[in-house]
Amino acid sequence: MKKLNDTNFAGRKVLLRVDFNVPVDDNKNITDDTRIRESLPTINKLLADGAAIIIMAHFGRPKKGGFEPEFTLQPVADYLAKVLNRPVKFTQELLGSGVPEKMAKELKGGEVMLLENIRFYPGETKGDEALARQLSELGDCYVNDAFGAAHREHSSTAVIAKFFPNDKYFGLLMEHEVENLERLMQSAEHPFTAIIGGSKVSSKIGILENLLDKVDNMIIIGGMRYTFTKALGGKIGNSICEDDKLDLARELMRRMDEKGVKYYLPVDSVIGDKFGNDANTQIVASGEVPDGWESMDCGPESCKAINDIIMSSKTILWNGPAGVFELETFAKGTKAIASSVAEACKKGCFAAVGGGDSVAAVKQMKLADQMSYVSTGGGAMLEYLEGKTLPGIAAIKA
Ligand code: 3PG
Repeated sequence: MKKLNDTNFAGRKVLLRVDFNVPVDDNKNITDDTRIRESLPTINKLLADGAAIIIMAHFGRPKKGGFEPEFTLQPVADYLAKVLNRPVKFTQELLGSGVPEKMAKELKGGEVMLLENIRFYPGETKGDEALARQLSELGDCYVNDAFGAAHREHSSTAVIAKFFPNDKYFGLLMEHEVENLERLMQSAEHPFTAIIGGSKVSSKIGILENLLDKVDNMIIIGGMRYTFTKALGGKIGNSICEDDKLDLARELMRRMDEKGVKYYLPVDSVIGDKFGNDANTQIVASGEVPDGWESMDCGPESCKAINDIIMSSKTILWNGPAGVFELETFAKGTKAIASSVAEACKKGCFAAVGGGDSVAAVKQMKLADQMSYVSTGGGAMLEYLEGKTLPGIAAIKA
């Protein structure tokens, strides 16, 4: 597989797939530009070579087929022009009108154009080959930097690669994600600790199962831990629980015992009498939550114990917050974990952070650059950790 940095793209017309599916507010202001910024090294490398770049990206999940104003990439085009400090050619016209085709044809070396939301074409999410071919005809090589969409077998993320059998590359962001994930899942140094949170066991079964053969320690936090606590006979009051997953939780614990994986459930909990920052709170043992109260964070004893496990680890995967992190009253556990992981990294531990809320936590605490690696992929990272093949990666490696 040829590497982007080992190739000179002078005079080439590069089709670049990125993930610019960024969060926006009601006025379409971008509220987190990480995905755009993280794609800049690839764009700048191609521009430095003198390539013309035709960028393909999606935004949201338009369903109607055809242009829909609320899903236009216009705000992203404007933003990209600002951060690149150069014009970004953009049209809301779709392929078939002749307008983007002409723009792409006339694009010169050192120029950038962005195609309108690729999901305005109904074929995109179906992996339609005719659409992939139509897109491929706009350029002469293909670079995939859209790690966040690598779990989608869509026309522009995977199918298009077959039209460039000898001219397809990972972008630098994609390369970085793949290298780090491979390090984590294939050659991790031990002790390897996974810290898995999130509200539901059901959404994390795949990861938990796939990690059973890889990790030494499994720290189970977030809302999903109450299903485990209840499965062990604990009282969880009004805490979130999937009653139909109690047997599964028991089975997972049995398998962790069998495999010699040490699992850790927080011993104490911060409980509240309502869901809000102004709730009355208490700290209780995790299996002794009174009726009418809901556990929403790890307590101080748990934070101490989790810190000890983190500090003795050589590799860490953190996916999912410890509690209701968006409420300041219940954010201490998540913040404590973020600080401990940053501290461990200073001592040479390799720590990967992925998943919306845990990434938001490290960003909010301005600790993101102290982690070894923070993934830009939500669903894509999850599927990778579940051991699935990601079509966007496989199509380039093939
Ligand atoms: C994401 O935001 O996780 C990616 O851009 C993929 O988006 P999708 O879930 O709509 O395919």
